[in-house]
Amino acid sequence: MLNVLIAGASRGIGLGLVRAYLGRGDRVFALARDPAASAGLAEILGRYGRRLQLIACDLNAAAAPEQVVATVGDCHLDRVLLNAGIPGPHKQDVASVSDADVAQLFLTNAVAPLRLARALRPLVRSGGVLTFTSSVMGSLQLSVGASMPLYSASKAALNSLLLHWAAELGSSRDFSLLALHPGWVRTDMGGDQAPLSVEQSVAGLVDVIEAAAGLDQCRFVDYEGNALPW
Ligand SMILES: NC(=O)c1ccc[n+]([C@@H]2O[C@H](COP(=O)([O-])OP(=O)(O)OC[C@H]3O[C@@H](n4cnc5c(N)ncnc54)[C@H](OP(=O)(O)O)[C@@H]3O)[C@@H](O)[C@H]2O)c1
Repeated sequence: MLNVLIAGASRGIGLGLVRAYLGRGDRVFALARDPAASAGLAEILGRYGRRLQLIACDLNAAAAPEQVVATVGDCHLDRVLLNAGIPGPHKQDVASVSDADVAQLFLTNAVAPLRLARALRPLVRSGGVLTFTSSVMGSLQLSVGASMPLYSASKAALNSLLLHWAAELGSSRDFSLLALHPGWVRTDMGGDQAPLSVEQSVAGLVDVIEAAAGLDQCRFVDYEGNALPW
């Protein structure tokens, strides 16, 4: 039984990952801003109560890393899946975006995930996997984010911070680090027109995550296992 921590677990892809790992028989720490408000988490708590621990936490809060580490205690983590993210303002225009909106976007999508990852790093088991949910829109070479430039820039910032952290860890890193593109998925963020269901994306993501266990990889990869250019 693996110990799996999933952040951004209240709905969408994060909730799908919680369901998938519980379904495999693993133990899950599910982080959500307001777990009690998540109908999905309430439903699975009834079914898997003993293997599911809910942690109420706004990942942007300065105290979030310390709070999460204290709650996890001395439990070693086999998988850390940092999935929370926001699309940012509707009008993605650097000329008109408010300072508050741009700060919220980059804090949520890039800075807060790295803060939490760094705090959890001593708890990550050797041979484990730590992932950030990025997006193909964060790829500088593919530049497919023309319609959402601020969101794309926030995911590029996430990827950049991941690479800097990997360089800093150097040969002391004994776990895999992945930036994941989940595909275009039907969630509140992805919208109704997206081709993939949460279940399809999550099935692929779990395969990719599990394939990275024990390999100490550092990759940007999609839900089908295809490598993406940074
Ligand atoms: N859907 C797609 O097509 C797609 C494509 C590429 C990448 N992605 C990425 O995949 C990830 C999941 O996306 P999704 O489609 O599942 O989105 P979603 O349905 O909008 O869910 C986003 C999740 O992030 C959580 N979250 C946001 N800010 C948070 C914070 N400060 N503290 C704690 N939790 C926070 C939300 O919690 P609340 O319920 O509290 O708001 C929610 O659980 C995101 O990183 C997104 O950028 C999605």
